[in-house]
Amino acid sequence: MPDDNLFDQTAELIIDGQSYHLPIIEGIEGDKSIDVRDLLKETGYTVYDTGYKNSASCCSTITFLDGKKGVLRYRGYAIEDLASKCLFIEVAYLLLHNKLPNRVELENFRTLLEQHALIHEDMVHFFDKFPPNASPMSILSVMVNSLHNFYPEMSADPLENIDITASRLISKIRTIAAFSYKKSIGQPLVYPRNDLSYCGNFLNMMFNTPVRPYIVLPEVVAALNKLLILHADHEQNCSTSAVRLVGSAGGNLYSSISAGINALWGPLHGGANEAVIHMLEAIHQDNNDYKKYIAKAKDRNDPFRLSGFGHRVYRTFDPRGTIIKDACDDILGILNVKDPLLEIARNLEEIVLNDPFFVSKNLYPNIDFYSGIIYRALGIPTNMFTVMFALGRLPGWIAQWKEMREDPETKIYRPRQIYIGSPSRKFVPLSQRT
Ligand code: CMC
Repeated sequence: MPDDNLFDQTAELIIDGQSYHLPIIEGIEGDKSIDVRDLLKETGYTVYDTGYKNSASCCSTITFLDGKKGVLRYRGYAIEDLASKCLFIEVAYLLLHNKLPNRVELENFRTLLEQHALIHEDMVHFFDKFPPNASPMSILSVMVNSLHNFYPEMSADPLENIDITASRLISKIRTIAAFSYKKSIGQPLVYPRNDLSYCGNFLNMMFNTPVRPYIVLPEVVAALNKLLILHADHEQNCSTSAVRLVGSAGGNLYSSISAGINALWGPLHGGANEAVIHMLEAIHQDNNDYKKYIAKAKDRNDPFRLSGFGHRVYRTFDPRGTIIKDACDDILGILNVKDPLLEIARNLEEIVLNDPFFVSKNLYPNIDFYSGIIYRALGIPTNMFTVMFALGRLPGWIAQWKEMREDPETKIYRPRQIYIGSPSRKFVPLSQRT
């Protein structure tokens, strides 16, 4: 709920000669919104806004995004600083607690994460029941949802134990993600190890085998750490809104996060990182015939879109995309990986940025455009890319869920509609229908 002093202006709305004054809310960075909360009650009108392009669904203190200038901050800190100077778990703490942890707080948080790294052994059997080639995103969402049965909240008030539930989720999601990968390739599960860092632990669970021990390289850990930070929150995007929506009905944190995972899966959202690689591979197999894909993307009758380009909010470079592009060059160099898809990606970006058609639509590479190339270099298979996004986004989802539940202004998410179906019809019994 904004402070009263944020209402210092009103907007006038005139309907059929009658004037209504609607309060204006101003955020601390100058973003303005017309408060229509009483509009229906006062005027009988709703607002029509498909895709919520113009709607602010809440007031939030977590993430600030300026789409015109390409600015992104978590809790006031520039993404550039956080991505280059922090551990992912520090950023997770920041998102959850609205402060960067001091050493003691960080150690306590690390200990909590260590304590909750295992999943209940009965859950391990669930993995056996998925068919081969099951999508890791569907496994992740099912497993996260079922955590509620194994770790129900200890009290009627879920906020009372939120730190424990949050730590459980942030720790266990890694274990679930790595187990689903191991099952999918028929290898024995590797259990978490408390002597490894958050990212090192995940990589070890993914790639260690009884016959070939995995060496956790600090460069690989650093690259993964950066990617997870860049994904950690992005205000009211589709999956975060799904988390808030389910939570607004009183849903528990696990089922709300599970809904977020499902929303993230779509190729217009987190699934774009996987779609980018498929697109670059297709261009590669087509002898780098960029023109064909550019023409498809411009064709109004073709549903094809350039995955990894465009964003609802950014009208310039996505700052996360810029950081990832630089990281991509660094990590491929350090690991001495030569990936033909990197050159294709660079060329495609160049073409798009210089094509007046795409320039007129403000299409710039987004976070998903180069992230997959780094994941490939780290050895992560393509069908796990969106799972990686979910691992990164989890602290943001939890912080947003918590904020929503703590906000006295929260109401159940329940949009209205404009009915355009059949007018009232007389019922015809089955025997009389022709
Ligand atoms: N390729 C070709 N044309 C595009 C693209 C694209 N990637 N993105 C937008 N456009 C065009 C679109 O056809 C439309 O043209 P017109 O005005 O002539 O109808 C115009 O640009 C505006 O697009 P929109 O679909 O109305 O914009 P939106 O804000 O609803 O969609 C988006 C945003 C991210 C879904 C869209 O840009 C897109 O589909 N991008 C590709 C998928 C992708 O990379 N998603 C990841 C987004 S970033 C990370 C995340 O959120 O997960």
